Amino acid sequence: MFPEIRLRRLRQSAGIRKMLDAPLPGPEKFMWPTFVINGEGQREPIDSMPGQSRLSVDQLLIDLEPVVDSGVGSVLLFGLADESQKDFQGTEAYNENGTVQRAIRAVKGKFPDLVVAADACVCAYTEHGHCGPLTDSGNVDNDAALVNLAKIAVSHAGAGADIVAPSSMMDGQVLAIRDGLDEAGLTDTILMSYSTKFASAMYGPFRDAEKSQPGKGDRKGYQASYRDLRTALRESELDEAEGADMLMVKPALFYLDVLAEMRASTDLPIAAYNVSGEYAMLHATADRGWGDLKGMVQESTAALVRAGADLLISYWANQYDELFKD
Ligand code: PBG
Ligand code: ZN
Repeated sequence: MFPEIRLRRLRQSAGIRKMLDAPLPGPEKFMWPTFVINGEGQREPIDSMPGQSRLSVDQLLIDLEPVVDSGVGSVLLFGLADESQKDFQGTEAYNENGTVQRAIRAVKGKFPDLVVAADACVCAYTEHGHCGPLTDSGNVDNDAALVNLAKIAVSHAGAGADIVAPSSMMDGQVLAIRDGLDEAGLTDTILMSYSTKFASAMYGPFRDAEKSQPGKGDRKGYQASYRDLRTALRESELDEAEGADMLMVKPALFYLDVLAEMRASTDLPIAAYNVSGEYAMLHATADRGWGDLKGMVQESTAALVRAGADLLISYWANQYDELFKD
């Protein structure tokens, strides 16, 4: 008549719950994605991403101090180019003295123990806003994009990046970059591929931040379809076969099934990229008074860990102490 098994016994007090619950991820599991701009003393808050700004290198060093102090383990750098620096190929992306390359040197110089990753793509550097040069028909030319990606990765690794992270979803991007790195003698650089990256409606605030909205068309010709699980998994399998050191699912929260399936079939570390639209979504809800930010952040982040993420690429990282400590 009455239940013999009572699960509530194990959650009747805060002490018991704490004793048995899985802990929230520590700060070392977080990678903070952030945006670097030209100039000095430059600081541009991003409207659609409260708490995030575009910073010049000197300002980034200032803002990184408390982030490093809180124990956050890594950072993912995105560069922005001035409009006058954009061209058809996105050549500014592999300028030895480009914004990101300078940022990598400066950050590693000041915080040698912080793991530094850099995003390798050209969409913030091309005048058309696509992730590679275009063919006459307006598609991204895959193999031409690969040549540029290898140059970008070598320039990042040469500047001291621990991790290069190609995000363009070109076929063969891992192999092309690995060849480039090996040829340059950069055999220790970790290659974290954006291996399963979907053509998502959740990148809006990021494209706003990066000024990388494609002028014409969308990215469905290269990013994966969210309606097709098998191809999504194949994307990561191929990158693993090409020699990626780490895989990624992006976005993260709408794709926990993909994350869990990958967790079951690979032994590589998997990063979950909790993208800009997911960040903005929780902020927008909290701003309207419709939900508690800290609670929503902890709950959604715990879901990523539960589904199998080893690394959390998250804009919450620079607010770790406020959001993840009691
Ligand atoms: C560009 C890139 C994008 C993101 C990371 N790298 C946007 C896109 O593919 O259009 C999205 C990150 C985010 O939304 O937080 N290759
Ligand atoms: Zn891109």
